[in-house]
Amino acid sequence: MSALRLLDAVCRRGETLDQAMPGATAKLSNPSDKSLAHNIAANVLRWMSALDDMIDSATRNRLADDAKARMALRIALVQVLVLETPQHAAISTALPLVHGGPRRLVHGVFSTVMRGVDSGQLKLPDYPEIPGETLDRWTHHWGEEVAEKANRAWFKHAPLDLSFKDQNVGELEGQSLANKHLRLIPASPVTELPGFEEGAFWVQDIAASIPARLLGEGEGRAVLDLCAAPGGKTMQLASAGWKTISLDNSEKRMERFRDNLARTKLDVEIVIADLLKWEPSEPVDAVLLDAPCSATGIFRRHPDVLHCIGSRQIADRAEIQKTLLNRIGPWVKPKGLLVYAVCSLEPEEGEEQIEQFLENNDQFEIAPVAQSELPDGIAPTQNGCIRTLPDMLAEQGHLDGFFIARLRRKD
Ligand SMILES: C[S@@+](CC[C@H](N)C(=O)[O-])C[C@H]1O[C@@H](n2cnc3c(N)ncnc32)[C@H](O)[C@@H]1O
Repeated sequence: MSALRLLDAVCRRGETLDQAMPGATAKLSNPSDKSLAHNIAANVLRWMSALDDMIDSATRNRLADDAKARMALRIALVQVLVLETPQHAAISTALPLVHGGPRRLVHGVFSTVMRGVDSGQLKLPDYPEIPGETLDRWTHHWGEEVAEKANRAWFKHAPLDLSFKDQNVGELEGQSLANKHLRLIPASPVTELPGFEEGAFWVQDIAASIPARLLGEGEGRAVLDLCAAPGGKTMQLASAGWKTISLDNSEKRMERFRDNLARTKLDVEIVIADLLKWEPSEPVDAVLLDAPCSATGIFRRHPDVLHCIGSRQIADRAEIQKTLLNRIGPWVKPKGLLVYAVCSLEPEEGEEQIEQFLENNDQFEIAPVAQSELPDGIAPTQNGCIRTLPDMLAEQGHLDGFFIARLRRKD
């Protein structure tokens, strides 16, 4: 039932899985049940078009996209075909979802599909399809090859990237793609890795660690980390010697932020406020804005984004980013730096934002990023910004899609 509630929240109400989790799983007391509900829903979202093809092959009259029977079937089939749940267990958890409704229909379609699977006539494709509208958009922006690689990356488990407080990575083994970084395939939950309790590291995709790297060592200078929760970039900045003030408007996300700071024992000033209303008492040496965005760049771990984000949502987010960028420009001291980042694969939220900002704010210029500042396999763009795409670092397990620009205030 919780998986159904999660899917309902994403597909009908446009919520993310993270937003929907507390409400949809409130009745489950066991964390492993909550995690199973999340896993079922996430895999239905990944495999939806292939599951629907199978369902449609077994019905005479096509079930409506939002019919409860279709959702119950998606949930039952994904459990058998992706999560390797026995057939009888999968159908017996799915039938109560259509209690008082088309139970016989659901049972019949499920049995027909299973007969097709058992006889080898039906099978899931090698990897799931990214929803058509998104794939078309990415093909248009980044070309067919990148879109195809994104499709394949979607299916793979994203590796675990850790950012370290100090140079020392302790007894952990993995591949280091940059200073203070380790990529590994964990054999145990991250909370059980040696060094976690002591706050030696935190989880952060390599692409997400680039914005703070571009500010270098702080040497006691002041930085504003705006839109900071749950604090990945703040922890990088504070451990690089920046006097950090971190702001976010979400009380809930700030709770996780405080836990992270307590664990890593880093000293940071926290502000809970709306960036559209708050302002600092004086300009600072550097500002990092990790702007709220469509989050389509983190689609591997968050398959829900590709079901709730379309051109309208992208245009809305782009409008907010424009307002925020224009608002924070004056907070940077002359000769100071402004780093702008979004975990988005949409140029409207990245390249086009910076183009517009520079057109309207001629006291700023791009401070071009050099190749030597970036991990191998990620190159700066022609104008010195950074665009990470799903085809990069393919052999090492890919990375999230980000746009990052470093700007300098001239005077
Ligand atoms: C991309 S996430 C930040 C991730 C974070 N920088 C990190 O590295 O861990 C964007 C954040 O923007 C915050 N946010 C969105 N709108 C905001 C606003 N108007 N004022 C302040 N924070 C906002 C959200 O709460 C969210 O935590």
